[in-house]
Amino acid sequence: MILAGTNPDALAAAVATLRRGQLVAMPTETVYGLAANATDDAAVARIFAAKGRPANHPLIVHVADGAGVAAFAHEVPAFANQLMARFWPGPLTLILPRRSGVAAACAGGQDSIGVRCPAHPVAQALLRLAADAGITGLAAPSANRFGRISPTTAQHVAEELGHDLLILDGGACQVGIESTIVDCTRGAPVLLRPGMIGVGDLEAACGLPVLDSTAPTPTDAVQPRASGTLDSHYAPAATVRLMDHGQLQAALDLLKGAALPAGVPTMAVYHRSDLKLRGSNLLTRRMPGEAARCAQELFAALRDLDKTGVKLIWVESPPDDPSWDGVRDRLERASAPR
Ligand code: TXA
Ligand code: MG
Repeated sequence: MILAGTNPDALAAAVATLRRGQLVAMPTETVYGLAANATDDAAVARIFAAKGRPANHPLIVHVADGAGVAAFAHEVPAFANQLMARFWPGPLTLILPRRSGVAAACAGGQDSIGVRCPAHPVAQALLRLAADAGITGLAAPSANRFGRISPTTAQHVAEELGHDLLILDGGACQVGIESTIVDCTRGAPVLLRPGMIGVGDLEAACGLPVLDSTAPTPTDAVQPRASGTLDSHYAPAATVRLMDHGQLQAALDLLKGAALPAGVPTMAVYHRSDLKLRGSNLLTRRMPGEAARCAQELFAALRDLDKTGVKLIWVESPPDDPSWDGVRDRLERASAPR
């Protein structure tokens, strides 16, 4: 059932559910998460089962504040502290060396742990109440089935995982794509997943270059897995093709007047710049011209287009600017061959 996340009774029910080792969906500023007590391995196993996610794909632990990290990480490098000080609460996840014996199932067997402090007021309220009840952190992946688009509304969660789940409604997510992930276990900051906190912002905050995940690092540790880095991820049912403006117009010109069936459109175009669209039976949707606004609506837009039953979605490639890195990454994955 979907309950208002601002309702104290709903929050109390959510904490009681978590204490019983069951799952709760919670809003965050990025996407909705499917939460369980991070230190309860049986509860965490329910997350993997509900998502259909392989158990060796590690989950992120959500904590109420920076002080909450110590329960899960045994060491926090200075640059990681600087990143936390600057961006928490907010859409940034740090991978840190895991405290031994803690949250092993959540970590998917790795000796590291992902930690994030979300800014959404409902997530904050839930984390604080849970902490008062002895739950030090909530394991929460995005509340979608494995390989599907992340949910950005409570209704999306219900569509993905059903109405039996207790879903705290916190409205539409403000950021809209998942957190930026920085690996802090390799002696230097390494970007594992781009998000709306960009590399430039990270570098300014910690005074160090942020490395690409393929670059050699000072400690040269084993590179952790990130399921968000699987090529085909965030995929709608329709086939997505990314094209720059010129390619898109050329493809549309070829289509024009051609054999697209009448009636319900079988294909959609999600575009930012002006296109000549005359004469074809196309569903069109305008992409916001600003990266933050595009990120905010991106997953809902793909879901909406998918629901119309179109078989093909042509998407205009984002501008070649770092502010679009997160959006570009999600679109590249949505369009990766399956
Ligand atoms: O914005 C977000 O991060 C959302 C909200 C709910 O907080 N969560 C999210 O979780 O996107 P999920 O499970 O869909 O993606 C987490 C990513 C995965 O790619 C996972 O492999 C990576 O984080 N990850 C988690 N722990 C890790 C670890 N110890 N080492 C490397 N990667 C890790
Ligand atoms: Mg996910």
